[in-house]
Amino acid sequence: MNFLEEVILKEGQALSDQVLKVDSFLNHQIDPQVMQKVGQEFARLYRSEGITKVLTIESSGIAPSVMAGLELGVPVVFARKRKSLTQNGDLLTAKVYSFTKEEENEISVSKKWLKAGEKVLVIDDFLAHGEAALGLANLVEEAGAEVAGFGIVIEKSFQSGREKLLKKGYRVESLARVASLSNGSITFTRNGQE
Ligand code: G4P
Ligand code: NA
Ligand code: NA
Repeated sequence: MNFLEEVILKEGQALSDQVLKVDSFLNHQIDPQVMQKVGQEFARLYRSEGITKVLTIESSGIAPSVMAGLELGVPVVFARKRKSLTQNGDLLTAKVYSFTKEEENEISVSKKWLKAGEKVLVIDDFLAHGEAALGLANLVEEAGAEVAGFGIVIEKSFQSGREKLLKKGYRVESLARVASLSNGSITFTRNGQE
């Protein structure tokens, strides 16, 4: 079991067979030491890829992304879910469907912070159905930049996100892969096996 799986077993709670609560270190309160190790692991996995930028989405993707950006020595940009008052220049936008809210939202990043030629590591806290991840990849491609791969803190391997990203040819590195949340117990995939 890796360090993150140990933290998840200790701190996480299966709210249902679909939803994992991890608000003591990732989604509400943030554990900087856990985030630092997460960032170091993403940096180790992508160190040789010539990453020039980390891209994530507000809000829970920001903490692990900043730690990865610090380790890789590159800036971090987060896509917004709402337009900001000062975000008045040209925007890159993508539609993201939310399964839980059953609605489509538009995410955006200023063209100023994502440029053609960049090699982008896309990081998020959770990979579920992959809609947010695909939206982020669309922003990168709209900019004329390249997706080097994804760094996911917690993947729910029983949902379709990983499969969708692999099918598009993307590299996916998930630090913890949850196999099941059934009966209130959290289990992981073994050595990346299903
Ligand atoms: P879906 O694919 O499962 O339908 O999820 P959806 O895109 O609608 O995302 C809804 C929010 O729920 C996202 O965060 C996503 O990261 C998060 N999420 C999905 N599955 C889980 C889970 O099992 N546990 C937890 N804790 N979160 C999950 P968000 O609304 O963008 O919030 P935030 O980034 O501001 O925290
Ligand atoms: Na989230
Ligand atoms: Na997120």
